[in-house]
Amino acid sequence: MCGIVGYIGKHEAVPLLLSGLARLEYRGYDSAGIAVQNGCGLEIRKLAGRVDALRLVTQATPLHGCCGIAHTRWATHGAPTERNAHPHVDCTGRFALVHNGIIENADVLRVALQRAGHRFTTETDTETLAHLIEDAPGEVLEERVAAALAQVEGTYGLVAMSAAEPGKLVAARRGSPVLLGIGDDELFVASDASAVLEHTRSVVYLDDGDLAVLTPEGYTVRDAEAHVQLRTVNALAWDLEAIELGGHAHFMLKEICEQAETVKSTLRGRLLFDEGAARLSGLNLPPSACAEVRRICLLGCGTSWHAGLVGRHLLEELAGVPVHVEYASEYRYRPQPPDPGVVAIAISQSGETADTLEAMRAARRAGHRVLGIVNVVGSTIAREADGGVYLHAGPEIGVASTKAFTSQIVALALLGLYLGRHREGGLSLPRGQELVWALAGLPELVRRVLAQAAQVEALARELAAARNVLYLGRGVNFPVALEGALKLKEISYIHAEGYPAAEMKHGPIALIDADMPVVFVAPRDAVFPKVVSNMQEVKARGGRITAITTDGNGRSDLTGLVDHQLQVPATHPLLSPVLTVLPLQLLAYHIAVLRGCDVDRPRNLAKSVTVE
Ligand code: F6R
Repeated sequence: MCGIVGYIGKHEAVPLLLSGLARLEYRGYDSAGIAVQNGCGLEIRKLAGRVDALRLVTQATPLHGCCGIAHTRWATHGAPTERNAHPHVDCTGRFALVHNGIIENADVLRVALQRAGHRFTTETDTETLAHLIEDAPGEVLEERVAAALAQVEGTYGLVAMSAAEPGKLVAARRGSPVLLGIGDDELFVASDASAVLEHTRSVVYLDDGDLAVLTPEGYTVRDAEAHVQLRTVNALAWDLEAIELGGHAHFMLKEICEQAETVKSTLRGRLLFDEGAARLSGLNLPPSACAEVRRICLLGCGTSWHAGLVGRHLLEELAGVPVHVEYASEYRYRPQPPDPGVVAIAISQSGETADTLEAMRAARRAGHRVLGIVNVVGSTIAREADGGVYLHAGPEIGVASTKAFTSQIVALALLGLYLGRHREGGLSLPRGQELVWALAGLPELVRRVLAQAAQVEALARELAAARNVLYLGRGVNFPVALEGALKLKEISYIHAEGYPAAEMKHGPIALIDADMPVVFVAPRDAVFPKVVSNMQEVKARGGRITAITTDGNGRSDLTGLVDHQLQVPATHPLLSPVLTVLPLQLLAYHIAVLRGCDVDRPRNLAKSVTVE
């Protein structure tokens, strides 16, 4: 949610910190701040607003020094004001820190600290940490930080510095990601690899409980028991272009347009044409163990939960295993009966979503085998899972998730294929091969759908003034209706709802009139004739219909019934969501642009929800 970056080296810290913050801004953008050790003490600039505004402030009143910390905030405790922006300091101004996460016992700590004479100047939970560090015993900053952290409950990813120890940063992690970027004669610390990618590809991911000390001479990492640990140095696989706009107006549009490539990348090296099967080397579920899987539980939030709903169809049909799809935020608080026959799969683009991570931990406590379908390599979910499938879709910067969704469906199809082919009575060779060929053909079909962008833009002009939109779909395309509605509401602020088409007559039909556009997701599949009946019910009530349907329906099928239609090529029925969602992503994008919305920074949202 919030973004953290720190630097220590030979160069001026401010430009490096600001460019790191700009890369992290998609994680939170209501306020920003920076602190630098200038040789005499700590100097701070912060404001309510964006990184660009902070840049202007640092130009007007420059700060100099080769060691500093910076933060871009998504408010949790305390309004997004200048006072509440990070970095936060103690009473003396000797200690400053930036923090992601939530200190759950902040209120209790604050009262105790105030009684002891500390003066608080902000409403944030983070400020308690600064005062705890001030009071903590210890000769050096790392001892003080460790002693302060021993008193807090909750989650943190933080970086602290002290005026008394120039040339030192202390970073710590529990529940909120922190990584070190190892450069030539310089070190970075950040909450997200995109902040350091410009400078180094070598990163060290901190584990929960780790505390790292960074100086110009190097870094050390101690674990929760204060033992020095040699953490692995990982090589980042992403290119710099992947986190740049590359000529597109917005990251969301860039990522929508990338999907022929990202789907291909999720498939790369994983299709076995002769065997009609999938190779999933990181799954850690040997063929012999597939027979023991009695139930699958898919866990996720938001768009990833929608992908799970598609996954249920894929896994039940291909592998013949019963599947439950759960909101991670609900699942984590329900007692789970112990059962080693259950495989719980956490689906997450970022691999850091707090609820999904906790749901995965709850599943582990219930004795389930725990897998992850994750995009970000090295993320917490990826590292804590017993195995899984990486999406390899490249960084997703747009706050509204797009390319992750299609790759998640593809990964779930690969998993269905893998399980189906390794379970007795599962998928036959011809059916397996049929799916393998259909998967292999998807990137080209994605490209063909995206080539219709101009048509979608024209449709967006028709719908941009709507106040409400209803999205309807059935079967494997019901989750696509949910996803289309989510995309529209989160970036254009139009109220939208997704519903199973046949459920419409049990309530939502009361809403239908000429002012309620209805978008049907209706490829030609087994339920197509039923969905056409639902269209007729809408038409009879004066509703305006847009249909996402399949080539070969022929316009005549729906002529007179629908007001607009967008056609996607036919594919394997289980894979149609990969295609039907594309016009809906583009539609939401163009409507948001037409309404003047900030597509990549929708209000109140931030990428990667690392708080509950
Ligand atoms: C919607 C969106 C969110 C995320 C959700 C889960 O466009 O981006 O609903 O899908 O916050 O995030 P991940 O997949 O990172 O766990």
